[in-house]
Amino acid sequence: MLPEATFSGKVAVITGGGTGLGLGIAQELGRLGARIVLASRNEEHLSAAAERLRAGGVEATWVQTDIRQPTEVERLFLEAIERMGQVDLLVNSAAGNFIVDADRLSVNGFNAVVASVLHGTYYCTRAAGLEMIKSGRGGSILSIVASYAWTGGPKTVHSAVAKAGVVAMTRTLAVEWAHHGIRVNALSPGPTDTEGARQALWATQEAQEKILRRIPEGRFGTVEEVSNAACYLLSPYADFVNGEVLVIDGGEWLGKGIVG
Ligand code: HXC
Repeated sequence: MLPEATFSGKVAVITGGGTGLGLGIAQELGRLGARIVLASRNEEHLSAAAERLRAGGVEATWVQTDIRQPTEVERLFLEAIERMGQVDLLVNSAAGNFIVDADRLSVNGFNAVVASVLHGTYYCTRAAGLEMIKSGRGGSILSIVASYAWTGGPKTVHSAVAKAGVVAMTRTLAVEWAHHGIRVNALSPGPTDTEGARQALWATQEAQEKILRRIPEGRFGTVEEVSNAACYLLSPYADFVNGEVLVIDGGEWLGKGIVG
């Protein structure tokens, strides 16, 4: 476990921070001393999440943002600087996804997911990076991806394409921005027990058992496990980790061998 003041004096912007993994990461960053700016499209989720953080003694604010709109992303970072004075950490956790056969996916459906997962993540990373360069203090950026970025993801071609782009962006900017003191990494969680994943991926017992059979450790990941890994990558303990994609999935994505 990281020491309590690991992120003391730091400000973190977390997209998709109103629910699920984004909120879990925000809570852990806050517990470790960061001040928090939550961003997502859903005002209700944001205000409830900020209340929860404040109840735990964390300084937290939120900005309603559609990350697909570059002007809204610009406003998010202006607001973050105005309210908190600085931005040191960015967590790109906002995403959109649905399971669909590729031959039934419309162009609009493809565009909607790519706009949010790839373009939105880029807009946020760009805005945070420019601010970190301008401040001269550097920073740390983390994007949530998925292993189908490199294995391929049947029934999620839109998201697989977009996440592959985010991995390429991570590795590219890790090199380009290292001399500014900015580290850029990614975290690739496997099936994690959140409300959203439960509804989207394993609404039935049968679906749940099918997914569990694919995971060598035989269980889902927890929000706490993913949040701990995220905080490690964002922290000074990972100061020499740059351009990395850390997989946290109980071994799910690895091949099972010829008898598996
Ligand atoms: C087929 C769909 C669809 C679905 C949307 N579309 N949902 N097609 N199956 N379930 C198509 C629409 O028909 C439309 O195309 C186009 O996508 C845009 O639809 P909109 O309703 O205008 O959606 P919009 O809000 O712009 O964007 C869709 C979205 C969004 C990106 C998926 O709902 C979103 O951001 N959701 C966030 C919540 C979310 O997805 N959570 C899951 C996070 S991942 P046409 O051609 O009709 O105009 C997660 C892990 C599970 O929890 C992952 C599952 C693989």
